[in-house]
Amino acid sequence: MNSNDKKIWHGRLQQATARSVEHFVASISFDQRLAQYDIAGSRAHARMLQEVDLLTEEEFAAIDRSLGQIAEEIAAGSFIFDEALEDIHMNVESALIERTGEAGKKLHTARSRNDQVALDLRLWARDEADAIAALVRNVQTALVEQAAKPENVGAYLPAYTHLQPAQPVALGHVLLGYVEQLARDVERLGDCRRRINILPLGAGAVAGTTLPINRRRVAELLGFDDVARNSIDATSDRDFAIELAFCLSMIAQHLSRWAEDWILWSTNEFRYFRVSDAYSTGSSMMPQKRNPDVLELIRGKTARVYGQLVTLLVLVKGQPHAYNRDMQEDKPAIFDAADQVRGCLELAAEIVAQGRFNVDEMRQRCKGGYLDATALAEYLVDRGEPFRSAHGMAGRIVAACDERGLELSEAPIELLREFGGERIGEDVFDRLGPENVVKSYRSLGAGGSGLVADEVKRWRQALGM
Ligand code: ARG
Repeated sequence: MNSNDKKIWHGRLQQATARSVEHFVASISFDQRLAQYDIAGSRAHARMLQEVDLLTEEEFAAIDRSLGQIAEEIAAGSFIFDEALEDIHMNVESALIERTGEAGKKLHTARSRNDQVALDLRLWARDEADAIAALVRNVQTALVEQAAKPENVGAYLPAYTHLQPAQPVALGHVLLGYVEQLARDVERLGDCRRRINILPLGAGAVAGTTLPINRRRVAELLGFDDVARNSIDATSDRDFAIELAFCLSMIAQHLSRWAEDWILWSTNEFRYFRVSDAYSTGSSMMPQKRNPDVLELIRGKTARVYGQLVTLLVLVKGQPHAYNRDMQEDKPAIFDAADQVRGCLELAAEIVAQGRFNVDEMRQRCKGGYLDATALAEYLVDRGEPFRSAHGMAGRIVAACDERGLELSEAPIELLREFGGERIGEDVFDRLGPENVVKSYRSLGAGGSGLVADEVKRWRQALGM
């Protein structure tokens, strides 16, 4: 058979397709990934066609059985894909017709590849959103586990603003900050999923069909929440893929910022975190090196994921409102974004779980920088001093201590009173020093040790740990 005879759409064309075109337009190299979704969609479509008497029971049975076999062969890797058949839709349909003859030729009734590919991609995206949400939860769980480890529970470190040491916080507070970011990502995926889960099939090529199909039945069979209400929109809408790419980009961004923190933490300058050996890499030249390449690649792959989001946005922007072949380029972009983020999430969960914090180093770094100065000013406020003047007094106390080489907690009470006035009592020493500061935080959402313990409890419950 010449490759044009295989083409289901070739009837109108009088010349053979040029070889160069065949390769250029083919998408089978990447859309074979949709095979199982394509077949699931076809089986639901066939069942509906039978129910509305567009297929006989025997035709449906033959189609359903053969599609089942084709699905198995594809899963087993024994199915041979043919580039001349362009895409997954025609590869499956051709195989079906080969096996069932006349019955198979009826499967494409009231259907176009335009609504078919939209369906396949939505089915894929729905599973992907769920799978990625589960991987995000694994990272959250690993972070909460670290926060709850006995050796980490009492730990505190400087929180930085402008990357300058600012105030002491419990280690768990930093870890749970990442958990919060990721929680928004899970929520965003769930929200995106609602818009993914709308059935486009039955929109046909652009206008729907004159045949009496039952789209609600297909939606029910495939677990869709609703049916797309406009056939032009249904075949040209890729918002859901773009939204998913945005959700992925946001996850990548969160992972990238986390990776950047821990890259810094694993430098000799910080020494807060040790990436376990199994997740570190060496240098081909410098024998002493332990490099955090995995963390750097998580940061690096984020650029690639953003690139795919931009690809999708630009891909759609100039298309006339209906299906255009440009759409085919959506798949390599969204597949790659999903694959990269999956990889990053898997590695992130492992690095979090395997890593060790150097809590002594963190504690040491809370010394010498007057990280308790804000707490001192707040002590004065507690004693009735307006904050602005309390801030000035605490500043002068810091300067005086700095001159004498003293921590605030080591300063004699007379010195504190000289610059901070008579409001200062002996109880000020319960509020100075990083450990006391971390114990004293009271506001909801603050970085105190007690508050963090409550948050760990809340997250354990929320994550079903
Ligand atoms: N491979 C195509 C895609 O990914 C399927 C739809 C083709 N439709 C068409 N009318 N040529 O978008």
